[in-house]
Order: sequence, then C-alpha cells, then structure tokens
Amino acid sequence: MKKQTSKQDEILENLKEEFSLEALKRIPKPLLKWYDGNRRILPWREEPTPYRVWVSEIMLQQTRVEAVKPYYERFMRMLPTVKALSEAPEETLLKLWEGLGYYNRVRNLQKAARVVMERHGGEMPADYDALLALPGIGNYTAGAIASIAYGIPKPAVDGNVLRVLARVRADGRCISEEKVRRAVEAELEKAMPKDRPGDFNQAMMEIGACVCVPNGQPHCEQCPLAAICKAREEGTVLSYPRKEAKKARTSEEKTVLVIRDEGRVALRKRPAKGLLAGMYEFPCLPGKISEREVIKYLSENGMKVLRILPMGETKHVFTHKEWHMQGFQVRVDELEKNASGGAGDWIYVEPWETRENYPIPSAYEFYAKALAMIRGKNRFLEDK
Ligand code: ADE
Repeated sequence: MKKQTSKQDEILENLKEEFSLEALKRIPKPLLKWYDGNRRILPWREEPTPYRVWVSEIMLQQTRVEAVKPYYERFMRMLPTVKALSEAPEETLLKLWEGLGYYNRVRNLQKAARVVMERHGGEMPADYDALLALPGIGNYTAGAIASIAYGIPKPAVDGNVLRVLARVRADGRCISEEKVRRAVEAELEKAMPKDRPGDFNQAMMEIGACVCVPNGQPHCEQCPLAAICKAREEGTVLSYPRKEAKKARTSEEKTVLVIRDEGRVALRKRPAKGLLAGMYEFPCLPGKISEREVIKYLSENGMKVLRILPMGETKHVFTHKEWHMQGFQVRVDELEKNASGGAGDWIYVEPWETRENYPIPSAYEFYAKALAMIRGKNRFLEDK
C-alpha cells in the first residue's frame, strides 16, 4: 500500500512539474511584446558590452535603478575598462561607490577584474561557468552577463523574478530558500526563449520592478501576464511570494564626535575587515554619553575643548544592524598638535577634501552635512 502511494505521489509530482513548465512557456511571447514597447532607456542597455553589463548588474544588486544611474555613469567614465578597474587604488573604488553601500561588492569587482586580466587576457569570459568562477559573481550575475552581453540562454533569477513567477504560478514555495531559487532557475532555463535570452531576463526584471512591484498593490491592469496569472485569477496576488520572516536586527548606540579646530576635522579609517571596512568616519564612542564624559575623554587624549554643541540624533539602518547615534560638535585648540588621537589613528582634513578623497559612508551623512561636506552622489550631481 505504502509503495503505491509513493508511486502515485511521483505521478502527481511529474504532472505538477509539467503543468508548471507549460505555465512558464506561456510567458515569453506577451512579455517580450510588452518589453519592446515599454522598456526603460538605461545607460547599460544602450551599449551592453560584457564589462558594462557586469558593473551595472553588481551595482543594481540591493540598489534601485534610479539610485544607480549617476554612480554608473561616473564609474564608467573613471574606470572604462577591466584593466583600469584592476589597477585602481582601493580608496578610489570606495569613493566611486560611496553612498551605494555593500562595499564588498566593489572590492570583489576588482578582485574579479584582476582574475580576468590574469587568466582571460582582459576579456570577460563568454562562458557561464567561467563567469560563475569569478569573485562576487553568483548564478544571477553570471546569467545576466551571459545572456545580455553574449546571448547565452541562461536565466538571471533575482528577487524580482522570483516574485513574478511565484504570482504567475501561485507557487507557495518559500523564495528565501536556496533550493527553491535553484529549482526555479532550472525550470526557467527550460522555458526561456533561446533567441532573445538577454531581453527575456531584462523583461522579467522590468516587470518585477515596474509592474509586479514588491511593496504594495501590483499594477495588474498594466501587466502583460495578467491573462495567465494564477494568483490574479484567484485574487491572492498579495499572498505571494512566500518568504521566511527576516531575522531581527541588532541595535547599537554611539556618540559621534565631530571634532574641529580652526580649519580641520578629525576622521579615522575603519578596520580593513568587517562592516564598512576601510571607510572613513568621525571618531565615535560607544553608547549615548553625556557632554561631560565627552570632554573628559578628549582631555585625557590631549585636547583642550573650547566649545561643545549637541548636533542631534539620527539613526542608520543596515541589513542586520541599526546604529542609533547622537552627535556633538566639539571645537578644540590645534587638533594635530595636541590630540594624541584617541587614537593615534586619527587624521585631520579640511571638510572640502572629502569631495574627492576619504570615502565616508551614508551612516554619517547627517553629521557630514552639518560641515557642508559633499559626499555620495551629490559629488557628481553638482558637476553637471
Ligand atoms: N535590475 C537588475 N538588473 C537590471 C537590468 N539589467 N535592468 C533593469 N533593472 C535591473
């Protein structure tokens, strides 16, 4: 009896799989027709060389298209080739990425560029597995480069694509599971059109970003897949995709010290490993401490405090962590001469110098702004 049940289960599974593949095969035609009439004009789409596609796809991970655009153009102007990227100093890279977050993305980009120089003669390999072997390139990015730049029929499955497919098929599998992502990739590979794989992948991403949106009500009335969407038919669109609840973030309190003398401000470089590695920040002390404690700390480190002013509170949310900050602006006498640097690792810079040098993460934007420091995309927007 037991054996028969498992046989029946197997038949049922096969039927489900076939049904699901048939559902996927109905996607490309209406999707590509819609894409041809609705695709956005984006800088990386106009001249999709492997290098340009690669950089764009890495920037677009975890970051919206509109936020990426000014960074992308600047990056391409400064580092137009794999060779230029492979040779750039780390601080130039971090400065070009300043404000985009997830800075390991750009370190890996450079590591991979060096491998491409050493092993592939400076050309991105036209091969899915060779792309996948490069640092920072996973299935999604390898699929995007292979399909968009080389016309290789490999899928590029990110969160947007998983959401669209979960809804079209009313598929209740949990999309945060790696095995589900891998299964969807294998399914999509069988159903994707072999003549326009790059357009198909980009159209899937486009539908996810613009129509079948992640937050709030999707725009089903504009969707070319509405007629074949099972969740829409059932009226259950917002029940998909199923995801695991996110882990709670840890929370940290800090006191940010904006320490200035007549002209300069103290910064320090963060450690080479861990969160915001290698970036510059204002010196900080753990916890939200009092003015008196700040003065005591600075005096113990050789600084004579002339004035101290509270700068207010702000918070910054990372993926797994939140920083709750309060700041003090502290005027001291001759920083370099007196400060033993809390320290030793502090540097003293004019605030305007941060426009070109010293990558400063967005977490400090609130305090950097108070010094009229220009950082992040404002550095490029004001060029124009
Ligand atoms: N998101 C990720 N990759 C993209 C692309 N190539 N075009 C538009 N949005 C994207």
